Amino acid sequence: MASWLSSAAAFVSSLFSTSRQLNLNGVMGMNKRNGAYISRYNPRSKYPLVDDKLKTKIIAQQHGATVPILIGVIEHQAEVKRIHKLVQKWQSFVIKPARGSGGKGILVISAHNNGVYEKPSGQVITSKDVERHISNALAGLFSLGGKNDVAVIENLIKFDDVAFSGFSFEGVPDIRVIVFKGYPVMAMMRCSTAVSEGKANLHQGAVGVGLDLATGKAVRAVQFNQPITHHPDTGRLLSELVVPNWQALLELAASAWEMTGLGYMGTDMVLDKDEGPMVLELNARPGLTIQIANGEGLLPRLQNIERLATPIKYPEPAERVAYARQHFAAQPRL
Ligand SMILES: Nc1ncnc2c1ncn2[C@@H]1O[C@H](COP(=O)(O)OP(=O)(O)O)[C@@H](O)[C@H]1O
Ligand SMILES: [Mg+2]
Repeated sequence: MASWLSSAAAFVSSLFSTSRQLNLNGVMGMNKRNGAYISRYNPRSKYPLVDDKLKTKIIAQQHGATVPILIGVIEHQAEVKRIHKLVQKWQSFVIKPARGSGGKGILVISAHNNGVYEKPSGQVITSKDVERHISNALAGLFSLGGKNDVAVIENLIKFDDVAFSGFSFEGVPDIRVIVFKGYPVMAMMRCSTAVSEGKANLHQGAVGVGLDLATGKAVRAVQFNQPITHHPDTGRLLSELVVPNWQALLELAASAWEMTGLGYMGTDMVLDKDEGPMVLELNARPGLTIQIANGEGLLPRLQNIERLATPIKYPEPAERVAYARQHFAAQPRL
């Protein structure tokens, strides 16, 4: 059993005391996700659109979505040294493998000067370290299937530090929304921590804050699959988190259906201080920890959408969001 599943199971069983209640609460496991949702609703031919971050950027832009600015792409080992010239005019940037996932191989640089590069923690690395990182990314060290990859260099997003002050430590928080047949069904905010090094991925040690789909307000929070109440580095009370621009964010997530044709998807978005909601990436095999962060299972919500009659004209993103906000509000807690 995957390690997250065993700890998830331990936590869920503490949450709902009997296995019967567990089923009733509709927590979805890996087999069900793969068999009943991913293989059924995600056509194989559409995977390349989301398995490559460069392709995702292009389709998102074609659909009028905003994305982080692309500074450049490094494709071959022989051009690794080009990085220093490429980023000359950019104060801060991110290097990521186009086919990476789970935050693997993402290097966040918050400042640089004369070949000295600084990470969000203040740790300094040399130009040789940066070149080595890119070289490893090109060799496929961090990427799907370990095949050769390309390195994407992106402008560092400046997140809304008023709304999110103290909720994320030295990194940009992202908002993950599970979108099923174009309907947002569950959401969480992922907040960076000292251990996650500027990345908001749960496997890197980020905090997952479940969000009420109706309001964008925090429901509960987890780190390493364990419930927590305060951010581990800043001490901020996580239940105070409210995501601004909620309607716009959900509409952007919902529109990923029109962008990709994938029926079951994890959309990762960020709220840029100046540009508003942006698409960071889309995932065809989103993780299941979002259920732990929300203290609710995905199945009842997915089945709700499956029961909807097929309309003659498919609802627009805004209508789908209205439906989700109405039907998938967080359950009141005791
Ligand atoms: N352009 C960026 N600016 C700031 N932070 C970023 C940027 N791109 C990625 N990150 C950080 O890294 C995390 C993972 O990035 P993402 O593109 O979703 O790749 P992965 O597939 O590895 O999850 C994000 O949640 C965010 O915290
Ligand atoms: Mg991601």
